[in-house]
Amino acid sequence: MNFEFSGSSLDKVSAGASVVFAFETKLAPELTQESSKLDKLLKGIVLKEIKDENFKGKLGEILSVKTSGKIFAPKIYVLGLGKKEEFGSSEFRVAFSHLVKKTKGKISSIVLLPLNSKEANFGSEVQSQMVVEGLLLGNYRFLKYKADDKKEKELETIIFAGCNTDIQAKIKDGVKRGEIFAKATKLARDLVNEPAAVANPTYLANLALEIAKKSKDVRCIIYNKEQVKKMGMGAFMGIAQAADTEPKFIHLEYAPGKVATKERIALVGKGITFDTGGISLKGDEHMANMKMDMAGAAAVLGVFSVISELRPKMTVMGLIAATPNMVSGKSTVPGDVVTALNGKTIEILNTDAEGRVTLADSLSYAVKKGATKIIDLATLTGAAEVALGTDITALFTNNRKLEEEIKGASAKAGEKVWSLPLEKTYKEMNKSDIADIANIPSSRYGGAITAALFLEEFVNAKPWAHLDIAGPAFAEKDFALGSKGGTGFGVRTLLNLLV
Ligand code: BES
Ligand code: MN
Ligand code: ZN
Repeated sequence: MNFEFSGSSLDKVSAGASVVFAFETKLAPELTQESSKLDKLLKGIVLKEIKDENFKGKLGEILSVKTSGKIFAPKIYVLGLGKKEEFGSSEFRVAFSHLVKKTKGKISSIVLLPLNSKEANFGSEVQSQMVVEGLLLGNYRFLKYKADDKKEKELETIIFAGCNTDIQAKIKDGVKRGEIFAKATKLARDLVNEPAAVANPTYLANLALEIAKKSKDVRCIIYNKEQVKKMGMGAFMGIAQAADTEPKFIHLEYAPGKVATKERIALVGKGITFDTGGISLKGDEHMANMKMDMAGAAAVLGVFSVISELRPKMTVMGLIAATPNMVSGKSTVPGDVVTALNGKTIEILNTDAEGRVTLADSLSYAVKKGATKIIDLATLTGAAEVALGTDITALFTNNRKLEEEIKGASAKAGEKVWSLPLEKTYKEMNKSDIADIANIPSSRYGGAITAALFLEEFVNAKPWAHLDIAGPAFAEKDFALGSKGGTGFGVRTLLNLLV
């Protein structure tokens, strides 16, 4: 997809279709200023068609109107934006995702104009970013292994009309940001969608090395099995030792040179490349999509793949303990005790609660490397999905300011999060008879909370937030901004947080 900018008015740009907008109201749909203008030029055929076709202007609804040569574009798409009082940047993004899905194969270029300040309370820069994200993410599919990838006509060119010099720069900036955000999200989706046999720890490590090689501001250290052991990551090894696949501990680091602030933020991703449950083996149904158990790692890699294009002003670490959780003669068995990098001992009572065990070492490592702020993303508990459903991430944090920052960033990204408490009295449930802590709680109630409380033991009271993305990381069916499979959840929230 490429984006072009034209100084001409909407009616004077040639494209497959001219896109205009309408809001849903109690009565007839309300055309935006630009759509009204076109309608007048066309002697009211848009409004007539709206009536004839009973078009409501619901979010993502599309009406196609033939223009019979009266303007340069042969047709108009009226794109519904939903109710005015419910309209915001996320809705604008979703509208364009619907547009690209519903017009697939029908058209190769469109022309559009931004909304005015009465119609949208977000400016032309954000608008163009939403257009680009909606189109690129809505269009995403994972086709690598599909032979019958029919060569459908793709939407190739998007022209922003009315781009006089003052707004052109803003629109261009928004487009660039949208492209970068979408690219990072798509990489994370690809990584989650790749089968576990491909996206193994070595694959993730090689990708990290490649990212570092492309940018002078990004470095990467990969620790292999022997080095992980030697470093003292007994918890990570307790999970990794069962597999024949070599584990990798990935440390990416972005440093912005002169403009650097004192802040040193660590982004930690759960990197279980496949979760069988280990000796505490999962049943078929629960194991089915467990290639997605590295979605946290995928989000971190997605962020790093674009970080030097966005140039945040703080140092950013990306940390991933990558291994599958396998069953073998070398498996840890329930009752085994491992020692994490920070010296704390963990009694592994259930090998299927492996994420928190590997994260214990990743978080300890972040502390050891001087992180001033830590954010982890993990497909950690089925309980988070039970609590908040498939579309909302559970947010836990020991720091109110960080909570507000993350909520703001996630709202901008259109990625939903909701805070759950780090209820101190529940710590009791994580007690072990023989070690400092147990990896499963004594009660199954509040499972997302007890898992978060477990992680908290390894952050040494540093400002920290934990995003349990078990629900939103993987979509079981097509959704507004994409298709079945990896969603890339968290990438755009993190990017908004950094820049
Ligand atoms: N990777 C799973 C959590 C998960 C479940 C992610 C569903 C995405 C969708 C995690 O490793 C796990 O198995 N958690 C257990 C913990 C339990 C044994 C305490 C769970 O949630 O059942
Ligand atoms: Mn598990
Ligand atoms: Zn897991």
